[in-house]
Amino acid sequence: MTDRISFLLNGAPRTVSGLAPTTTVLEYLRGAERACGTKEGCAEGDCGACTVVLGEPTGDGLRYRAINGCIAFLPQLDGKLLLTVEGLAEGNALHPVQDAMVECDGSQCGFCTPGFVMALFAFQQGGEPASDDAIHEALAGNLCRCTGYRPIVEAARRVAAVRDPGFELRAPSLRAGVAALPHDGDLAIEQGGGRFFAPTSLDRLLALRAAHPDAHLLAGGTDLALLVTKEYRALDIVIAVTQVPELARIVLDDKALTIGAAATYTDALPLLERFFPSLGLMIRRLGSRQIRNAGTIGGNIANASPIGDMPPGLIALGATVALRSAAGARELALEDFFLDYRKTALRPDEIVESVRIPLPAPDALFRTYKIAKRWDQDISAVCGAYRLTIADGRVTEARIAYGGMAATPKRAARTEQALIGRAWTEATVAQAIAALADDFAPLSDWRASADYRRKVAGNLLRRLWLESAQPTLTLGVMAL
Ligand code: FES
Ligand code: FES
Repeated sequence: MTDRISFLLNGAPRTVSGLAPTTTVLEYLRGAERACGTKEGCAEGDCGACTVVLGEPTGDGLRYRAINGCIAFLPQLDGKLLLTVEGLAEGNALHPVQDAMVECDGSQCGFCTPGFVMALFAFQQGGEPASDDAIHEALAGNLCRCTGYRPIVEAARRVAAVRDPGFELRAPSLRAGVAALPHDGDLAIEQGGGRFFAPTSLDRLLALRAAHPDAHLLAGGTDLALLVTKEYRALDIVIAVTQVPELARIVLDDKALTIGAAATYTDALPLLERFFPSLGLMIRRLGSRQIRNAGTIGGNIANASPIGDMPPGLIALGATVALRSAAGARELALEDFFLDYRKTALRPDEIVESVRIPLPAPDALFRTYKIAKRWDQDISAVCGAYRLTIADGRVTEARIAYGGMAATPKRAARTEQALIGRAWTEATVAQAIAALADDFAPLSDWRASADYRRKVAGNLLRRLWLESAQPTLTLGVMAL
């Protein structure tokens, strides 16, 4: 067990102690390191000015992924490589990504540029194609306030799928440097009134949970960190679940896909996209790459927000959630996990272990739709999810769930009943839409009025019908 955080910063070893464990990576860089290339724009994971790249050991090498430094806590760097914009150039030779930004006039104000450079560096290391879709997605988490995207996209085209021999030469020594970091097992930090634990076994995690039932559990931190950066709250005790190997597992069998609570969206996306394309589309939209590289589906569930984007789709798919404590394990239908506003069935000594999603029958119709004011990375006003089985023109099974319509993500039981056993026709859909009023009495807030929510919830069901009747309509997701 150690109370010191060890990582490589641009290749140089660092061992840090004496800082509050909820110090963000961005604060550390700009404060202790005086490395001010990484900027703060929003401090909530929206703008990308703070983008840095994590190098995480995988097999013989390192995997490079962009994250938001403003909402990552320093202990999350333990055992990893942190690359910042200061670490890309070698001597006077700019990195090819930096060269491309210069040559394409991609840098204007300079405030967003380091974040764009780091996002592009991760994009290049990923070996992705120079397609507009890939580039736009790689850059969706970086905002340029002076609308200079065209030259930045042009810079991305230049570096996409281009080898980076200079960095390839550095890579082995970076991997060796990470391997040489002191590994003393679990992290246990106590500093400035805050305590932070990062156990590396499930047993120790469960023991810590039992000993500290009021602790905040940390997975990706994309929501938890906002308590620190936006609400300026001190978090007395934080227990990270991300170092427990069992919780990072993603297991596919012939019946279901089971995703560990600490697996990131990025890790889960390929299989989710393969079996549930509509859910894959939702994930690509719910957060930037930086967010998806840190955030977890387990966190989105445990967070129990009524407007979380994953629960409606997962409920419609019949997902179950595995809960575990030192005393044992149990499994709940996901809809039974949510009790009231931000209130779940999780007992004080329990953690969310995984979510299990049954694989769809070949004839199942599944869609999940999100309505928000912006396409990328916005919070839903309403989210609707539908899994229907239609045989010989009749609905034989219906599971429907909505987010943003109640205090919890919730099934639409009356609406389902209005469909089951009926012909899948426009008239049936109209009756089901009317039944939504029996299922939900939504609130008005600044995202949407109650009337709007009611109307759009019905329109989404109608959209499902239109898409099923006209399969050429675009799959999936739409904005206002
Ligand atoms: Fe805006 Fe971090 S400062 S995403
Ligand atoms: Fe930085 Fe536009 S170039 S905000």
